[in-house]
Amino acid sequence: MQNITISIRGGKPLRGNVAISGAKNATLPELAAVCLSAETIEFLNVPLVEDVKVMHAALGEIGAQGEIGDNSIRVAMPVLRSPLVSLQTARTTRASVLLLGPLLARHGYAKVSFPGGCPIGERKINFHLQGLERMGAEIHAEDEYIVARCRRLKGIEYDFPGKTVTGTENLLMAATLAEGTTVLGNCALEPEVTDLIDLLKEMGADISGSGSETIVVRGQTGLHGASHRVIPDRIEAGTYLIAGCFAGNDIHVLGVEPEHLGSLLEILRGMGADITVSAREFHIKGGKSLAPAEVTTSPYPGFPTDLQAQLTTLLTQASGVSRVRETIFNDRFHHAGELNRLGAEIKIEGDTAVIKGQARLRGAALKTTDLRASAALVLGGLIAEGKTIIQNSYQLFRGYENMPDKLQKLGADIKIIQG
Ligand code: EPU
Repeated sequence: MQNITISIRGGKPLRGNVAISGAKNATLPELAAVCLSAETIEFLNVPLVEDVKVMHAALGEIGAQGEIGDNSIRVAMPVLRSPLVSLQTARTTRASVLLLGPLLARHGYAKVSFPGGCPIGERKINFHLQGLERMGAEIHAEDEYIVARCRRLKGIEYDFPGKTVTGTENLLMAATLAEGTTVLGNCALEPEVTDLIDLLKEMGADISGSGSETIVVRGQTGLHGASHRVIPDRIEAGTYLIAGCFAGNDIHVLGVEPEHLGSLLEILRGMGADITVSAREFHIKGGKSLAPAEVTTSPYPGFPTDLQAQLTTLLTQASGVSRVRETIFNDRFHHAGELNRLGAEIKIEGDTAVIKGQARLRGAALKTTDLRASAALVLGGLIAEGKTIIQNSYQLFRGYENMPDKLQKLGADIKIIQG
């Protein structure tokens, strides 16, 4: 799977329907939550992307039993076979760190490799560790592993010093089995956090304040099984929404939660995009002319860093100069150099990409380094005249379910030529 190369012949209009899969970044913490109970958890609307498969395999390594079905997973962890989450797993998906809180909470011991994932800049986990230590865990580093031990975790009051999505998720899960009440302040507001809370409540957790910055968790002695439907992937939906804005395209994006994409809708409409929103659907007709934009990434409900690269591709087609400022990660512009190989004119000035519009893109051989950059390059290839080759496209499959198939059905000329 590591050596996938994608080939695209650009310039074909995209028309028709595309159905959005379940959210990767909701599924990953929810799979970690399996460690909190001995009973079976059933997940529906699961995106069968590589990161999810790796996380499922990691659960298997530590003792979970279960099977992957057709966009569903049934899994239970009656006993912990091994508290060790291997280096290989952690190198592939950063989400492995999410096993730390649940393993400590139920089993009192965890050995998890320092997380890997996309090379997009510094990705600290100090707030995860600080919170767990305050709850009573003893944590130290052993070679490339984080080793954590505790008796029963204790409820605490903890304000996150900065917004962290997986940090919020890790401490929330740990708190469900802690002794006493935990009050977490400055929690991340991302819909994936809210979806995890929904699952934890379905498992019997006592949590209030969901969807707000202060969340109160009253610890229980055990959690039970549940059946949970994962929310739609807002980043995948946003990626197809952006694709729909290219001149000549006319796409219906189905099975979405429009509320989760308010910031993107505002930006695209501000650029002049023709988007109709109904209960579970976006209809986008590609406009002839799009105005440039000034965009800054920020935590939810702000504009998501996970759509920054894809929007940048669209802005190469706007009618003037755009500026995109990245405030979440300090090295997330790898797509810029590759888009420039297609003929884009993007300059990086500190934390900001300055994008000259109306670029004539022409096919080229590209190499991608991270998940969202891959999606941005695929979008670039769809616009570019001639043939674009994207090496290392394994990255795309970490987070997008069947993207080449979905694009082919919309009329794109895209295929996997190696892998
Ligand atoms: N941070 C700290 N200390 C911490 C935790 C985070 O300083 O203890 C900093 C990070 O260094 C970073 C910022 O806070 O600069 C935000 O990090 P966060 O913890 O929120 O990111 P994450 O939880 O590791 C999740 C998603 C990412 C997404 C970010 C931001 C999952 C599995 N991953 O990562 O998704 O970009 O939130 O929204 O949920 C992707 O899907 O492509 C992806 C990278």
